[in-house]
Amino acid sequence: MASKRVVSLFLLLLIGVQMRGSNGLSNFYYGMNCPFVEMIVRNVVNQALQKDPTLAAGLLRLHFHDCFVQGCDASILIDASDGTAEKDSPANGSVRGYEVIDQIKQLIEARCPGTVSCADIVALAARDAVFWAGGPYYGIMTGRRDGTRSKIEDTRGLPPPTLNTTDLIKLFVNQHGFTIPELVALSGGHTIGVARCSSLKNRLDNVDPTLEPNFAQSLTRTCSAGDSTTVPFDRTSTTFDNVYFRALQSSQGVLTSDQTLYNSPQTRMIVDNYAMNQAMFFFNFQQGMLKMGQLDLKEGNQGEVRLNCRKIN
Ligand code: HEM
Repeated sequence: MASKRVVSLFLLLLIGVQMRGSNGLSNFYYGMNCPFVEMIVRNVVNQALQKDPTLAAGLLRLHFHDCFVQGCDASILIDASDGTAEKDSPANGSVRGYEVIDQIKQLIEARCPGTVSCADIVALAARDAVFWAGGPYYGIMTGRRDGTRSKIEDTRGLPPPTLNTTDLIKLFVNQHGFTIPELVALSGGHTIGVARCSSLKNRLDNVDPTLEPNFAQSLTRTCSAGDSTTVPFDRTSTTFDNVYFRALQSSQGVLTSDQTLYNSPQTRMIVDNYAMNQAMFFFNFQQGMLKMGQLDLKEGNQGEVRLNCRKIN
């Protein structure tokens, strides 16, 4: 009886490996050839975040900026000596967490060489970072392939902080296939992390009337120290919670693209719901992340498994 169970488990595992979706992802992709991959990622992420809890935000943003440009293919990690790669774009100027990915990759290469893609590592690390910060845990499929192109001009697809709800909907819903509740939940990724003053300057030069006056004053004071000074997105910026949405309700959203979600009739009720019901926020965030992690994946044997995440093989 026991041996029957072992055999069926083995078969299930095999089927899991074989049953790749049309986009090439599966639940047990590394089950046979690198079974410890998720554990290695989790351990390194946890250690890194224990040292610097603010890096959770960096790892989440890294995944978003990877997937929105040429799909989730780790193109954001590639170094170019002539400064023409995605990571050299001003839109990626403050992206953080590259060293954590390097460390994970090194450990994984030592155990299962040439097997685990950098794009999967980025997706798993973002998932673990969200969970570490108190957010939802979601199972993700693996099997992404790494890209062989990383060009600064491709980062045009990243949203600038000045977008209003109509433009956010065009980008997230019409272009990338998210629902409006998913767009609002994903913006809730700003429940962790910081923005540089340069990203909210547009709201302070001529004070944006949608900013709460005392908050506007406090931002102006902080930002008088210079463009690279940072401000937290909400008052619990290392905890993944729904305080971000409450901040929007009191006109204390940091970026134009944050506050617009409360000020637009198309999204206001969703903000209210997430502010009241954290479980609903977490559920839609999870759905949104699962979709984001599958944007424009390389098909079949396109792409590669990079040996060093910073270099094309
Ligand atoms: C909706 C459109 C979005 C816009 C316009 C936007 C824009 C920005 C900007 C301007 C910053 C600050 C960069 C700086 O000043 O250094 C930022 C930070 C951040 N963004 Fe977004 N973002 C958007 C959506 C997202 C999504 C979908 C996620 C993830 C699900 C995300 C996660 C983050 C995180 C975690 C940070 C903080 C990073 C850190 O502390 O290092 N953002 N975003």
